[in-house]
Amino acid sequence: MSCVLFGAEQSIRTEFVPDTVWPDNNGVHINAHGGGVLDYDGTYYWFGEHKVAGRRGNSAQVGVHCYSSKDLYNWTDEGIALAVSEDPNSEIVRGCIIERPKVIHNQKTGKFVMWFHLELRGQGYAAARTGVAVADKVAGPFTYLKSYRPNAGSWPLNVVEADKQKGKENYLARDLQVGQMARDMTLFVDDDGKAYHIAAAEENYTLNISELSDDYLSFTGKYARVMPFGHNEAPAICRHKGTYYMITSGCTGWAPNAARSMMAANIMGPWKSLGNPTRGVNPHNQLGPEKTWGGQSTYILPLRERPGQFIAMFDVWTPENPIDGRYIWLPVTFEDGRILIEWHDRWSLADAAPASAK
Ligand code: DGJ
Repeated sequence: MSCVLFGAEQSIRTEFVPDTVWPDNNGVHINAHGGGVLDYDGTYYWFGEHKVAGRRGNSAQVGVHCYSSKDLYNWTDEGIALAVSEDPNSEIVRGCIIERPKVIHNQKTGKFVMWFHLELRGQGYAAARTGVAVADKVAGPFTYLKSYRPNAGSWPLNVVEADKQKGKENYLARDLQVGQMARDMTLFVDDDGKAYHIAAAEENYTLNISELSDDYLSFTGKYARVMPFGHNEAPAICRHKGTYYMITSGCTGWAPNAARSMMAANIMGPWKSLGNPTRGVNPHNQLGPEKTWGGQSTYILPLRERPGQFIAMFDVWTPENPIDGRYIWLPVTFEDGRILIEWHDRWSLADAAPASAK
């Protein structure tokens, strides 16, 4: 680990070392799984699932944790941004499942908006809802607003007549009235300020990209299906030189599988499959592209001072002891119209490809 010594125990990190313990300013492994990073006012804020030790840590016992950083290597614990409730009637009561929280900032309202995958306590993964919370300050505290299955009553933009027929395994038509399922998710704010919610729907068979309202607090009902029956989850998205790129995983629970990638000229599609974007082998577990180095995608972070450059973020899940889950952050490159992510044992932003026009 390359670092600058700073007192007896503190050290300043100067590089990323994927799939290893990543201490925060208190020397504690960062606890922000399935997360995303918001770049706000010259500081990066990392929001993620706070996990506790043992299998019960796979449900929400604490809430959504926030860390801040100026340089992306060194993170300061900002505490719990959204806390679980002790009220048994609350949808976010302790013991529910809160996964993959993402926070965006609304320039018009000045509010910080968090969306996350919510499963109601005691119902396993059956509820498949999306939840939303709002805050006046970036690190919270966030106030929980509501959860639901989105896009109730609306057909997607790319619906075809056959999709409207009810039948076995036609989950789109089955869920038309109650709203579409929303599990693994991410958020994306486009250059024009429009925000999109991307989530695994239809029993995880299909991804939905949905437009959010101007205040980012609800869905407009405008959405598109991506790769119907493609069985994608863990969506992470970026826009490079006008093209949208998305990384996803297959659906194998907590176990790793091969990552996928796709591209589109329009966020609502059509999306074109680009294959596995990963390269290289993780020496900690000998896993390569066939298992995404043991990880699963969660977010693609655009770098403020390096327009056109991104970091792809992955989680290494440890469901027996989720608090121990490690993070894999790697530089993104674009080659021949494809998005690529190559393993590095250690790397720094200075090693990443030179900045290119957005
Ligand atoms: C895979 C998902 O990507 C995770 O966020 C989590 O929901 C697990 N499945 C649960 O098995």
